[in-house]
Amino acid sequence: MIVVLLGPPGAGKGTQAARLAPMAGLTHVSTGELFRAHLRSGTDLGARAKAYMSRGELVPDSLVVEMVRDCLADGEGHVLDGFPRTVAQAEALDAMTAERLIVAVISVPQDKLLTRLTGRRVCHEGHVYNIVTSPPTHAGVCDVDGTPLTQRDDDTDAMVAFRLDVYARETAPVLAYYEATSRLLRVDGDGGADDVHQRLLGAIESAGATVPSVVGGASD
Ligand code: AP5
Repeated sequence: MIVVLLGPPGAGKGTQAARLAPMAGLTHVSTGELFRAHLRSGTDLGARAKAYMSRGELVPDSLVVEMVRDCLADGEGHVLDGFPRTVAQAEALDAMTAERLIVAVISVPQDKLLTRLTGRRVCHEGHVYNIVTSPPTHAGVCDVDGTPLTQRDDDTDAMVAFRLDVYARETAPVLAYYEATSRLLRVDGDGGADDVHQRLLGAIESAGATVPSVVGGASD
């Protein structure tokens, strides 16, 4: 099974994928996080992606699709967070796997997206916090690995506004792509992360799929 999480920047795709993947025995694949890891490692792919990410633009389809193809090659189940983001990527995903796709879009009012993104703090391993809704135990330090928390370069007011425009222009048509084949599940992402998690599980089950819990029924 492949679960695809769609939604604008700040909708909570990463937060929900990080909860869903371990309980469902699926691998969490965040294309944004993969690019940031390439950047930290100084790879050619990281350098090419940076040129686009630093402007809030989408990385070209060809680079993203090959990266995701490599991830899916293990034949395991996955939660895709941040992919597909264009209709061309959605078509490529359909062509590259015979696995059943469960596609869910998480929706959140625009003003809340802005608050969530400007309050986000991350550590270098990608653990995510929010100074308002989910602060770390000690300000500025990751609970998991003790490293400093920083703000993502693309989480400034101006960059967030630009990324939301890119989403409306490039990614909103992906919703229509899945809706046309009755594959789109809608999840209300407004509310606490636990509530959204339960709504997401309900939506997945409504599509006739079951999410086996490998952690004794815990929700996170
Ligand atoms: P990426 O890293 O994927 O960024 P994004 O899609 O803009 O999504 P975000 O990570 O900003 O938000 P999210 O929905 O995961 O929210 P989160 O859970 O963190 O992509 C970055 C860049 O990489 C792109 O701009 C592009 O350049 C490139 N890229 C990536 N994929 C690509 C692709 N397929 N094609 C082309 N280019 C690509 O939550 C946000 C905040 O809200 C956190 O602080 C969190 O704690 C908080 N929060 C979460 N849920 C809740 C809740 N229920 N209540 C309150 N607060 C919450």
